Amino acid sequence: MSRQHPAAPSAPPSPHAASPHAAAPGAAHRDWWRDAVIYQVYPRSFADSDGDGMGDLAGVRSRLPYLRALGVDAVWLSPFYASPQADAGYDVADYRAVDPMFGTLTDADGLIRDAHAQGLRIIVDLVPNHSSDQHEWFKRALAEGPGSPLRDRYHFRPGKGARGELPPNDWESVFGGPAWTRVPDGAWYLHLFAPEQPDFNWEHPAVGDEFRTILRFWLDLGVDGFRVDVAHGLVKAEGLPDIGTRDQVRLLGNGVMPFFDQDGVHAVYREWRTVLDEYAGDEEPAAASAPGRPRRTGGRMFVAEAWTPTVERTARYVRPDELHQAFNFQYLSTDWDAGELRRIIDRTLDAMRPVGAPATWVLSNHDVTRHATRFANPPGLGTQIRTAGDREQGLRRARAATLLMLALPGSAYLYQGEELGLPDVVDLPDEVRQDPAYFRGAGQDGFRDGCRVPIPWTRTGPSYGFGSGGSWLPQPSTWGELSVQAQQGTPGSTLELYRRALRLRRAEPGLGAGDAVEWLRAPEGVLAFRRGEFVCVANTTGESVTTRSHGRVLLSSGDEVTEADGEAKVPADTTVWWAMT
Ligand code: GLC
Repeated sequence: MSRQHPAAPSAPPSPHAASPHAAAPGAAHRDWWRDAVIYQVYPRSFADSDGDGMGDLAGVRSRLPYLRALGVDAVWLSPFYASPQADAGYDVADYRAVDPMFGTLTDADGLIRDAHAQGLRIIVDLVPNHSSDQHEWFKRALAEGPGSPLRDRYHFRPGKGARGELPPNDWESVFGGPAWTRVPDGAWYLHLFAPEQPDFNWEHPAVGDEFRTILRFWLDLGVDGFRVDVAHGLVKAEGLPDIGTRDQVRLLGNGVMPFFDQDGVHAVYREWRTVLDEYAGDEEPAAASAPGRPRRTGGRMFVAEAWTPTVERTARYVRPDELHQAFNFQYLSTDWDAGELRRIIDRTLDAMRPVGAPATWVLSNHDVTRHATRFANPPGLGTQIRTAGDREQGLRRARAATLLMLALPGSAYLYQGEELGLPDVVDLPDEVRQDPAYFRGAGQDGFRDGCRVPIPWTRTGPSYGFGSGGSWLPQPSTWGELSVQAQQGTPGSTLELYRRALRLRRAEPGLGAGDAVEWLRAPEGVLAFRRGEFVCVANTTGESVTTRSHGRVLLSSGDEVTEADGEAKVPADTTVWWAMT
């Protein structure tokens, strides 16, 4: 941790104990998001309050005490806005309304208030790249026909070919198939995702105006931040030039595409930043401030979902006058391999330092195979995996990967259910699937439903406590044993591991502070680093390894660490935290 010397998070920790904090300028007013642990709630799969098989906002509200006890700082909610649900809510028909299946605006308001009262922040999802085809603007654009001014707010173009029967360019949808759909009057419109998700034209001033008022709408309601969906996609290259190859989905993430990561997007974020900054300086949620804990500013924040080729490109989204954080997808895509992990950790910290943004770390989300299943499979398969693999190994590695992630400086993102060690459900029958990518075939694998199965709260009962009725995707019979009820208070359970790790991480100054790690010499396949008086050792090999003992073991993701004569045996696929004092 370079020149910083965090006190070791000693056990039992005093989560809010006072201590000098050298991590950031203005320690007494550290921005809360710099080291926050943010828990992603996928509302349709979290908790169902009315027994209709679909999770809802009242369900989330009823489970806030669970999240507080887990020890996270903030909750990011995937979209709950009015939507025909062609892409599970990422197709928004009305950005200022709650879809009846999730509740009402009053429920959203109540959820935000309750969260604040319990010291939790709320981040909502903002979907600016595209709307639903049922959005008022798009419906009018179609109904008014060619020449409608509303068409300029999307990308309508005439087709190529003698009768305009060919799409305007060769772009392919991320979900597979052409990125263009023809409407009955012959014009084509662009959709980088499903046909029900037409892309906005961000060159049109009305689009920017609209989104600034949407930001204010939710800021006025009290949200603490926004996750910006497809933040890399808003601006397209001038003239919408052809790419010249097929299977473009394979190119995503490998280079700058004419529809992704264009320089023009940054002007949008600079404007948004000025809106957010107007809301800076609010009080932090009352319950979040505890005696002795450095007071944190109540500023609002943005986190970008920006899939870019490199972390250096990602760093451009979090320059001081743009967004605050961006997901680290390079980290998410890294195999359980010490060398690879070290490279991406260093590269991330090096890329973020010059722009002054915190690094972020993430292992799972609603778009990728859960890390317990990724690590159950051989390396090199990517983030969409269809096989269960070796479950025991997957869970062991997932727990180790989580402890490694939570020991790194910056902010960490958790995805609901990972604290239970949930695997992906890889055997969902085709007839229950809802991922639009599944139906479009050629593009993404379309197996995102596997990580979206409603989570289990109780050992038995209808939908394992998810609700009083069924569940929109079938839950496997193993769900009861993985439930919150089964793991709560059970020593060694994954839930208790997360709780303890989050408690330790929070000790002041927490493990999230700072912007560097000090690497220690370690055997092949092992990562070891020091941060002040704290040491983290991750053994990514399938064998136990002997290392130096670093003091007092705070936590192990696996079996107990045996120590003798200044040496410690770290079990296979296990991460260990030590306090040097
Ligand atoms: C983002 C979301 C994903 C969605 C896509 C289109 O990548 O995370 O779930 O399908 O955007 O909105």
